[in-house]
Amino acid sequence: MELIEKIALMRELSEKWRGDGDIISLVPTMGFLHEGHMELLRVGREKGDRVIMSIFVNPTQFGPQEDYSRYPRDTEGDLRKARSAGVDAVFMPTVEEMYPEGFQSTVRVEGITRYLCGGSRPGHFAGVTTVVAKLFNITKPHLAIFGEKDYQQLGVIKQMVRDLNMDIEIIGVPTVRQRDGLAVSSRTSYLSSEERSSALSLKKGLDLARAMVAEGEKEPAKIINAVRQLILSHPFTEIDYITICDPEKLTDIEIIDRPCLVALAVKVGKARLIDNVMVREN
Ligand code: PAF
Repeated sequence: MELIEKIALMRELSEKWRGDGDIISLVPTMGFLHEGHMELLRVGREKGDRVIMSIFVNPTQFGPQEDYSRYPRDTEGDLRKARSAGVDAVFMPTVEEMYPEGFQSTVRVEGITRYLCGGSRPGHFAGVTTVVAKLFNITKPHLAIFGEKDYQQLGVIKQMVRDLNMDIEIIGVPTVRQRDGLAVSSRTSYLSSEERSSALSLKKGLDLARAMVAEGEKEPAKIINAVRQLILSHPFTEIDYITICDPEKLTDIEIIDRPCLVALAVKVGKARLIDNVMVREN
């Protein structure tokens, strides 16, 4: 497995692989790999001849009050896991390599970035799309793999690829959960054991929403209210948003008469956690 820090070397290797006729899969990550990342790597391995994984904790997608400086890191563990997953190259640039002095450009998707996390994390998605566009240009993949836990991020990246005619197939991979239902995420490492129990309220809330829809409830407000009460009955929780929305546009829906997305973001202690589920009316 190659470990590459320089953009020029990464481009050279990708060009060589492309020249050999290899299909390149890219799995962009911020490191601190967990089972969710391993599943992305497995899909990347299955679909591509060469797998590139990037590790870059991207400062531009964190707000000033967010957890950039304490974001968990474990390079040694990540490289071990990448090797065991059959990754061919890890691209791990420095911040200076990605954003040299004089850097001035931003890739911004409008529309769907206004809702959900876009409301409470201004600038976050512009940071994501800018770095992902750079990673695409550097690693030149045919396919790029992202998790559905970050449902909005996946939609924003698909929109960018469509709008800017990037010749890359974006593949979404279902959320990986722990046995008790908690969606795996690097940020669960911030949780104490009491907080972790409270974090289960996200999945319980989504299950409740799904059950209410299955029983015929059509009013989003009633469901959101029930989910809110369930989550707030757990200590350490602070709700950022709970929404029932159109799965493409992410706009709120007034009546549940078609498949829709239930998505939520909840702060549990210091960790801001997100989760979502698709629900279908009866
Ligand atoms: O999902 C993530 O880990 C990040 O947002 C990504 C896609 C690697 C961009 O920094």
